Amino acid sequence: MIEKLDEIKSNAIDELSSLQSIKELEDWRVRYLGKKSALTQILRGLASRPLEERKAVGASANELKSLLERSHRQKKEALKEKAYQEMEAAAVGKQIISPTGIPSEEKFGIPTVFLGIPDVTLPGRPIPLGRLHPTTQMVREICDIFVALGFQVVEGPEVEWDYYNFEALNIPPDHPARDMWATLWIDTKSGERPMLLRTHTSPMQIRVMERTTPPVRVVVPGKVYRYEATDATHESMFYQIEGLAVDKNITLADLKGTLYEFARRLFGAERKVRFRCDYFPFVEPGVEMAIDCMVCGGTGCRLCSGTGWIEILGAGMVHPAVLRRVNYDPEIYTGFAFGLGLERMSMLRYGVEDIRLFYSNDLRFLRQF
Ligand code: DAH
Repeated sequence: MIEKLDEIKSNAIDELSSLQSIKELEDWRVRYLGKKSALTQILRGLASRPLEERKAVGASANELKSLLERSHRQKKEALKEKAYQEMEAAAVGKQIISPTGIPSEEKFGIPTVFLGIPDVTLPGRPIPLGRLHPTTQMVREICDIFVALGFQVVEGPEVEWDYYNFEALNIPPDHPARDMWATLWIDTKSGERPMLLRTHTSPMQIRVMERTTPPVRVVVPGKVYRYEATDATHESMFYQIEGLAVDKNITLADLKGTLYEFARRLFGAERKVRFRCDYFPFVEPGVEMAIDCMVCGGTGCRLCSGTGWIEILGAGMVHPAVLRRVNYDPEIYTGFAFGLGLERMSMLRYGVEDIRLFYSNDLRFLRQF
């Protein structure tokens, strides 16, 4: 039995010295120390042996077992160290030196190539934070105000039929009122329905009323287009927000109350408003609303051209001809409508002097919002 142990010992030690990998080492462990190994079998079989033999063989077998376990641990460490050195050797030449000239691994004890980052001593790169365009911010702010007053937000097409942009809004073909909107027409063949880029968001009044029955309370933000030379206060593309409320018993008092509240929420609770007559074909009466100048407080300055008032929107009571067009009975239903230029609101709020800044993609401008 003792010879058997000696044989196991010399085989195991011999083989161990030639092992090259952790995998081979594991196979070795199973072979010499595993449940089915000869050594384990011998130790198990001892119980049924006479006492003398149990003592002698038991002591040697246990001694061999701890020798093999110890050798296994040492070999494992040695193989790990060897693998590490090989990885390092493979990384030579890829090592990145920090600006201080000291390889960063020397500072942290970890080769940077293993961390997968170029140089941990460099300051972190700032991640640029995106933000919403000032126009988007203003659309949301104004819509929120009207939503709080009970309005719904809807959107509509930018390429529009003549019918919705003009005709249904009480502006017949060849009527001089069309001159109020310098229009970009879409090429269509003769006899086809005339099509255009909407010049205002008002056509959505018709589209909304066509598919709903009163009460109606909507605001419509969106892009509109004009065939116009651009300057500090004109763009060929800009945003408007349209509003429409139709129900029984709606009066000019509702229009004034709603728009007064809107002006106070957007431009400050101390704002005063002024309504004056104006003409728009789709309302009767039509009004223009102004707020007292927030720069001079009404005494007159450059912003308000010395008048003390700043015009901010057009509005009016929906024209009976418009209501009839969508089969609303004007004897039963009345309503008010309004339309405002969105960039103008931002310009007044933030003191922006040129509308073209909004769409020229200059980050120095956009980052300020
Ligand atoms: N659509 C008009 C424009 O672009 C603005 C406007 C005025 C809209 C009066 C309205 C309104 O709804 O009632 O000039």
